[in-house]
Amino acid sequence: MDESLSRVTKALDDVADVGYLWHQGLLNPGGPHRRLKGFHYPISIGEDECTAFGRLIEKFRPEHCYIIGNAFGFSSAYIADVMKHHGGKSCVTLDNQSEGAGEIAAGIAQKLTDMLELTEILRNKKGSAPQDISSTVEQEVYELIFIDGLHRHPQVTHDLEGVLPYCGDDTIVVFHDSWIIGVPEAVQRAKEEGFRCLWVPTSCEMIFATRNEQQFAELQALYPDGIEDKGHRNYFYGWTLYARETVAYHLKKLIGRE
Ligand SMILES: C[S@@+](CC[C@H](N)C(=O)[O-])C[C@H]1O[C@@H](n2cnc3c(N)ncnc32)[C@H](O)[C@@H]1O
Repeated sequence: MDESLSRVTKALDDVADVGYLWHQGLLNPGGPHRRLKGFHYPISIGEDECTAFGRLIEKFRPEHCYIIGNAFGFSSAYIADVMKHHGGKSCVTLDNQSEGAGEIAAGIAQKLTDMLELTEILRNKKGSAPQDISSTVEQEVYELIFIDGLHRHPQVTHDLEGVLPYCGDDTIVVFHDSWIIGVPEAVQRAKEEGFRCLWVPTSCEMIFATRNEQQFAELQALYPDGIEDKGHRNYFYGWTLYARETVAYHLKKLIGRE
């Protein structure tokens, strides 16, 4: 575990009652993922996906990052913490608190920000993508954009369209959960906008997109198991794995073990 990840996981354990799922990864080896005990949603990215971000930030040193979908702040605290140690200047998150733990999750995200002394760099904002993107951005161009809000079609495509005005030549856009309907469609839209897209087999599968050819080659070197134009999985496969865990969660809750 890298230093940022151990700082964030420790701080999260101090401010929240955390549950774990997909201990070995959902679709590929990785994980674990987290959620707040007593709430099925929201679910965080996996620890392996944090470290995939860590490698990206160490390599490309983005100054400014914009994140759609913050939940209880696991990914944003990690990204901001790594950025803080690699010349990063700002990280803005946008979340409408619509999923599961909602406002409670947002409160924990803010506690995490404060506890990790990330307030100078990390600003958590309440609002909905795509309509509140323009009023919450603080930069004309973001070097790193992470789309992890509502996973539906065409919502993810709308989220992408909302951030396109803030994409420069060197912006890297990251999508999470390539197995969920809405994400492959948004990735297709990114390709139409001139992005090359690298699918990477993390726990829930991530896509790293850039318009810069040199940067794309560097992404390929950074994630040697990445594949361009992977296409998307049969949606049924991912949902079967997901449904299995969901049933187990509700059974455990029923017998008081969750
Ligand atoms: C999968 S969770 C994000 C997890 C987070 N990135 C992490 O790994 O810690 C999705 C989040 O998106 C938020 N959300 C859903 N629809 C949204 C929208 N239209 N705009 C902004 N946030 C949204 C939900 O409230 C939820 O907290």
